[in-house]
Amino acid sequence: MEQTCKNVYITTPIYYVNDIAHIGHAYTTIIADMLARYSRLAGYNTYFLTGTDEHGQKISQSAEQRGKTSQEYADEISGKFRTLWDDFDITYDKFIRTTDEEHKLGVQKAFQKMFDKGDIYKGEYEGFYCVPCETFFTEKQLVDEEFCPECGRPTSIVKEESYFFKLSKYEDKLIKWYEENEDCILPRSKKNEITNFVKGGLKDLSISRTSFDWGVKLPESMNEPKHVMYVWLDALMNYITALGYGDKEENMNFWPANVQLVGKDILRFHSIYWPAFLMSLDLPLPKHIAAHGWWTRDGQKMSKSKGNVVNPKEVADAYGLDAFRYFMLREVPFGQDGDFSQKALMDRINSDLGNDLGNLLNRISGMSGKYFDFKIDSKDVSKFHQKELDEVNVLLDNLDGYLYNMQINRYLEDIWKILTIANKAIGDYEPWAKMKEGKTEEAMALVALITNIMAKVSLLLDSVMPEKIAKISESLGIKISNENFTKLITNRELISTTTITKVDQLFPRIEEILLTQPSNEKEEQKQETKKETPKKEESKEEDDNLITIDQFFETSLKIGTIVEAQEVPKSKKLLKLQVDLGEGRNRQILAGIKEFYSAEDLVGTQACVVANLKPAKLMGMLSEGMLMAAKDENGLSLIRPEAPKKSGTKIS
Ligand code: MSP
Repeated sequence: MEQTCKNVYITTPIYYVNDIAHIGHAYTTIIADMLARYSRLAGYNTYFLTGTDEHGQKISQSAEQRGKTSQEYADEISGKFRTLWDDFDITYDKFIRTTDEEHKLGVQKAFQKMFDKGDIYKGEYEGFYCVPCETFFTEKQLVDEEFCPECGRPTSIVKEESYFFKLSKYEDKLIKWYEENEDCILPRSKKNEITNFVKGGLKDLSISRTSFDWGVKLPESMNEPKHVMYVWLDALMNYITALGYGDKEENMNFWPANVQLVGKDILRFHSIYWPAFLMSLDLPLPKHIAAHGWWTRDGQKMSKSKGNVVNPKEVADAYGLDAFRYFMLREVPFGQDGDFSQKALMDRINSDLGNDLGNLLNRISGMSGKYFDFKIDSKDVSKFHQKELDEVNVLLDNLDGYLYNMQINRYLEDIWKILTIANKAIGDYEPWAKMKEGKTEEAMALVALITNIMAKVSLLLDSVMPEKIAKISESLGIKISNENFTKLITNRELISTTTITKVDQLFPRIEEILLTQPSNEKEEQKQETKKETPKKEESKEEDDNLITIDQFFETSLKIGTIVEAQEVPKSKKLLKLQVDLGEGRNRQILAGIKEFYSAEDLVGTQACVVANLKPAKLMGMLSEGMLMAAKDENGLSLIRPEAPKKSGTKIS
């Protein structure tokens, strides 16, 4: 983001509608939202775009599997993304869908222009195509001569008539762009990778398909009704069609984009194809393409098949949206992979937010109330605290730079250093002692210093935690506005007077594990992966999975009698059971079977129980075992003894 420009345009990738939103999608969107909010507050004319990517074979196949038309399916999932972003108060200016008529027209105009320029020609394509990744691979790139290097699924050989984009023509121009624009790709380490890749040579790109029809048709003038556009050509164009490209062009003054956020997995599309398309269209190139890393969960790669995907809504509901936003932005240096763990999130909430930020506000309201009837006057701050003000100003100097270079975690780290200056000043100057000594002016200067620091920090954190900052600013009696941003941040001034209002504790301590573990879903999804895994892998896995009889007996299976059963409030799946395993006390077991059994029907019945599972907490409640069940398309059944057995009878 250049500080000199008036307009700021920020984009996220458009999300595929074959999946629901997960933490990775939320991450990109939250970063973009933070930049957009900050830019608006700093006075830039800002446009923030997000949306959904809805064409391609993968989407039409997902729709078919669900017995829906592609359009119905796209409408449903796109709607879910939009609802989630609305729930998250994401301040997008436009939510684009690639099925929007204006988008389709814009893409056709772009295709026509590139064709007229001589950058598109007709040929025949033969390659190894991975449907889930919507990508062609060369034979060299395949794993074991057959499998997709990205997702491991089998590829198929596709030979079809296709239009090609002369990507090779743009090789030198791309290299020149990378070399002349230090920060065009962020982080810089990624730029080197891309530059080396392009230096290795680029092949022309197949940009139309005839093997399916869920896509944007070629322009009518081409008279090619069987061809639809390659999804990546269609999708990348969203960044300009959203501004009216090829139609009314009403917002094209926002182009070129300042920051285009992407995940590292889609950086090549954005830093090679996209600028080449733009060069062909004679449009300027984006200022920064910024690639973030991937999130793992508790150290493991997140995937639907592992059933460990973090649901951003669930986290935000459990811990608070602002805390979640802060965690995502603070925890990981931009560009690096990050790990999501509830412990790390709780530590951030309790320490950074509760101790450093929340407590400081309490201290301001406590001291101002006790000594000055909540009235603050800054007139003597510079006289007694120029040293602290200078320290704060040095930190403020760097903040812009961090943001503009996508070092958001450093931006936050330095804001926390500013908070430390405030917290330390209280200890160093002990306003309570000053009051005792009758040095009221000095005590007031200290409380006013802290209040000013808190006001500056609020202006800087509004983009990160808008809800909590609204409460803090209300308590400080200071409006979050561009006027105050200019005054307190840009011009380094102080507020003259204000009146503090008390607020409830902003970040109460969090102790408990609140998230549900996706137990049954995990099982379901494991089944799904098995289906999806390449055949070779599957048989290998089966061999590896053979166990000895001793290993089998490591699992303690017993007959349990369900003596009590209750629904777990707010849970769609869980029932809380008391199960007698003949141990002289009942065990509490949480079972995800509510959709298939009512609590009353279970009482007095028996089931097979895994009795030596490590106890786990589900929704904050202890579960000391697992009921065995089998599930197919007709539903789920508990595994039970054919005739009643004594509670605790061993199963072998
Ligand atoms: N539709 C394309 C983008 C087209 S843009 C013209 C696409 N969609 S996606 O839904 O599969 O992915 C969207 C974004 O989510 C990507 O930037 C991807 O990197 C990001 N993430 C997906 N899983 C992720 C994590 N586990 N962690 C962080 N981000 C990840 O690609």
